[in-house]
Amino acid sequence: MTAPAVHGLTGPEAVVADLLAAARENRRYDIGFPGATDLTFMGLAEVLTGQLLNNIGDPFDVGRGRNHTKQLEQQVVTTVADILGAPAGAWGYVTTGSTEGTLHALDEAWQRYPDLVVYTSAAAHYSVAKGARLLKLPLVMVRTDPTGRIDVADLAGEIARRRDRPAMVVATAGTTMTEAVDDVGAIAAACDDLAVARRRIHVDAALSGIPLALLPPETRPAFGFGSGATSMVVSGHKFLSTLVPCGVLVYATAPHLPAGGRIAYTGSADTTITGSRSGHTPLLLWWALTTLGVDGLRRRAQASRDLAAYTHGRLRGIGWPTQLLPHAFTVTLAEPPPSVLAKWVLASDGQTAHIVCMPGTTGDQIDEFVTDLAAARPPTSPPSVPSPTARVPRTRSHRTRTRTTP
Ligand SMILES: Cc1ncc(COP(=O)(O)O)c(C=O)c1O
Repeated sequence: MTAPAVHGLTGPEAVVADLLAAARENRRYDIGFPGATDLTFMGLAEVLTGQLLNNIGDPFDVGRGRNHTKQLEQQVVTTVADILGAPAGAWGYVTTGSTEGTLHALDEAWQRYPDLVVYTSAAAHYSVAKGARLLKLPLVMVRTDPTGRIDVADLAGEIARRRDRPAMVVATAGTTMTEAVDDVGAIAAACDDLAVARRRIHVDAALSGIPLALLPPETRPAFGFGSGATSMVVSGHKFLSTLVPCGVLVYATAPHLPAGGRIAYTGSADTTITGSRSGHTPLLLWWALTTLGVDGLRRRAQASRDLAAYTHGRLRGIGWPTQLLPHAFTVTLAEPPPSVLAKWVLASDGQTAHIVCMPGTTGDQIDEFVTDLAAARPPTSPPSVPSPTARVPRTRSHRTRTRTTP
């Protein structure tokens, strides 16, 4: 491939300059996916670009290698565990993302209870079904209410039908399409009612785990360890703006993983999904957590909620059907016309689209988007926001305060 000349550059430098220019240009129109972009990591440039760092094996079992960041990884796990309200003695590691964290939790549950059944909602991320498929585990899809929250009555009914089998419930704190938060407290209570003690409750909190955990206790939904979760995962490239995909998996208590054991030549326990693991992503996470601190994280979360409320208000102002759930960064809207979708990158399922107001997204971008939408609007009034789970039959729903217009 012949590289174009950019700013007098040729060869690989020109290709990279081109790529960077395109990425910067595209970033303005990318408002549909939940990657924060407000942090940069220039202070880490030398170590990120000039040093091999491999955190092979368990982060708390340092092993033979010396070029790693396991001490910082331990701090990342402990800090995230504290924010999420995990008890003392929590264990975890830095993963490639929430997908790997959920896969690990499914595998851990299967190692403990080989005859388990996995339950998740129709609004759960596709990584849950993929993890169950990879591990060949039986999976039951549970209905949601119109906002996307798991229908606990339907879940209880499904568990009751198989109450002799252990249950692995994968709940979601911040569903992909509406950012709905499953009621983990009610899920744990339903298991208790059915005397299903052989259970795990893993919470996929990819986007919303840290922002929700930083809410005052009186307004915080029952979604975490204090409500019955046994493990949780958050993505690093979403709220924590690491720019490189990664995640943090946390268990309330260190799982017993007999399949792994200690590997003689690495000198570390094989408790993780992959063998070699990035030593750079723990560094990015540590830097983000340390430089922002809990107050900085909380301020960013509130700024995102404020921008989401502004976006919702602007869409209402032009009469475009829109929905915003409590505490969410995600503003759901009826799918815009193709001319708008050609310019703006929105996550869309063919009926409903959403904008995720991440740290790094600005009011200017929202204003430009709303102007484009208003100009492209068909003369008749637009369709209403369809339920994200409209195709899923409903049973009794759990009421959630929602702001929907018109
Ligand atoms: C609820 C939820 N879970 C999991 C994922 C996947 O996370 P990752 O890309 O970190 O594997 C996403 C991605 O958007 C998500 O929204």
